[in-house]
Amino acid sequence: MKIFVTRNLPGRALSRLSEAHEVDVWEYETPPTKDQIIERAKECAGIITLLSDDISRNLIAALPELKVISQYAVGYNNIDITEATRRGIIVTNTPGVLTEATADLTWALILSVARRIAEADRYVREGAWRVAWGPELLLGMDIFGATLGIIGMGRIGYAVARRTTGFDMQVLYYSRSDTYLTRAAEKNLGAIKMSLEQLLAEADIVSIHVPLTDQTRNMIAGKELSLMKQTAILINTSRGAVVNENDLYEFLRERRIYGAGLDVFQQEPTPLDNHLLELDNVVATPHIGSATVSTRNRMAQIVVDNILQALDNKKPKHLVNHEVYHQS
Ligand code: DGY
Repeated sequence: MKIFVTRNLPGRALSRLSEAHEVDVWEYETPPTKDQIIERAKECAGIITLLSDDISRNLIAALPELKVISQYAVGYNNIDITEATRRGIIVTNTPGVLTEATADLTWALILSVARRIAEADRYVREGAWRVAWGPELLLGMDIFGATLGIIGMGRIGYAVARRTTGFDMQVLYYSRSDTYLTRAAEKNLGAIKMSLEQLLAEADIVSIHVPLTDQTRNMIAGKELSLMKQTAILINTSRGAVVNENDLYEFLRERRIYGAGLDVFQQEPTPLDNHLLELDNVVATPHIGSATVSTRNRMAQIVVDNILQALDNKKPKHLVNHEVYHQS
């Protein structure tokens, strides 16, 4: 069967796919447009997509042979799942393997913002370090003993929370569900569940780990930011649209919160004139939560496993739309 892959993937996973199917890989670094995806995938039974591909209702409708969309990410907010399901198209993702790498990056941002690492690096490189040692030079915030508020205690939220033990931190969390992870967080880490408002008011560091849905879009805007401590830090490694960037900019500029670490943006790549990038109390990274060699290789293996299973009429292990198997 024919498969279109919207970007080359690391490792050797795609060679394994080519042994079983006819694989066409988009050859450029710039993502294909909607029309280019339609042109290349119109006869395909499967496509491998990235979070930067807009797999909309119209695009799905223009791919009559499509049986499976295998997403190279855990998040799938770029895919119209309802439309895919309605048309009997299987959608899969790559959960689990990127949890630890994303939690590590979250902690890199926490440490960078609290201890002003990016700013200090610029200070040294720009030749501003002219006095040997200064009692008031680049003072930051304590992490040891601080309170961490996790919004969304899923796999990644829990992995971020687990890393607090060495820092002797209190963990607070906000979650709309009660799962084995929320119970484990309470039992193993002494995490305390509370309302979003209470968490924002009490945490020194607030870290966001929710998927982007209609409910979470713009979840952290002016009203929520106004509840945070003036010394608090906001970290977002989930999806940019969960946070209102204009409101965040105002709060950071006026120092009504201490700083922010952002791996994700409303628009990606974020334009250079995004005002957030003018602020010294912002550390910005280009959506690299899962960007380690082994994680990205494992994600590639999983997207290939998922698509092979689906095209072989087996239920893929990492299925997003379970309903697709229960409709007539
Ligand atoms: C995901 O998987 O959803 C991340 O944002 C990229 O790895």
